[in-house]
Amino acid sequence: MSEHAAPGSFAERLWRVRARTERLCDPLAIEDYVVQSMPDASPVKWHLGHTTWFFETFVLGPHLEGFRPYRPEWGQLFNSYYVSVGPRHPRPDRGLLTRPTVGEVYAYRKWVDERLGEFLGTGAAARPPVAALLELGLQHEQQHQELILTDLLHAFSRNPLRPAYSDVTPGASAATPVAWERCPGGLVRIGHEGGGFAFDNEGPAHLVHLEPYEVASRPASAGCPTASPRHRRGGGAHPSTGRGGKGPGSGSRSTESARWTRPSPSPT
Ligand SMILES: [Fe+2]
Repeated sequence: MSEHAAPGSFAERLWRVRARTERLCDPLAIEDYVVQSMPDASPVKWHLGHTTWFFETFVLGPHLEGFRPYRPEWGQLFNSYYVSVGPRHPRPDRGLLTRPTVGEVYAYRKWVDERLGEFLGTGAAARPPVAALLELGLQHEQQHQELILTDLLHAFSRNPLRPAYSDVTPGASAATPVAWERCPGGLVRIGHEGGGFAFDNEGPAHLVHLEPYEVASRPASAGCPTASPRHRRGGGAHPSTGRGGKGPGSGSRSTESARWTRPSPSPT
């Protein structure tokens, strides 16, 4: 699709993002697509279907004349939290969905992309409310790209064989000692303002009072145990007593059942 889109156009950005999602899956085995390692994570196959369902449900369905959903019964599988558009399969059970298959979900993506391509060539796609929906779908898919990686990271972390998503080793920055920068706090303005895209929960800009705080000089990572004490929120064993830090025995049980030896891995 991208080869037919004008450079810098919305279509070119959209096809780049859609292709990027699928490129993130290049290192995966077919089994990796289906596993759900915890209730808060989702299978990669679900992310692929859900991001496609979003365009189908909120852009094509209401705005492409004569559009009929690819498989209407799949809506309940790939709807996340949108109560108004129909029933939803429970999130903790997404890993039970062996059907549709991975191949069928990829075919769904291709079909929806073709319909999106047709739609982008119409004047309807340029109308401001519809253009805003398309932009939202693009940004939403990028959010799910992050989720694909974080959910995969957790799934791989639960495998004693420690499979790696990538052979690329972290750069030198991961080994750089963390420094803490003191910030005075006070009355600060936060939130989105001005042009450009923002999710609806990022605005409007407003004033908040912040107590003095410190911020790390770089993101934390699983390879950075020196940063862990400030990030610990119960669950980990106390360095000297070995006790969990949250409720009687709850932390140590979690630590034992999940075999944690450090804070959960972070992609950053
Ligand atoms: Fe979503």
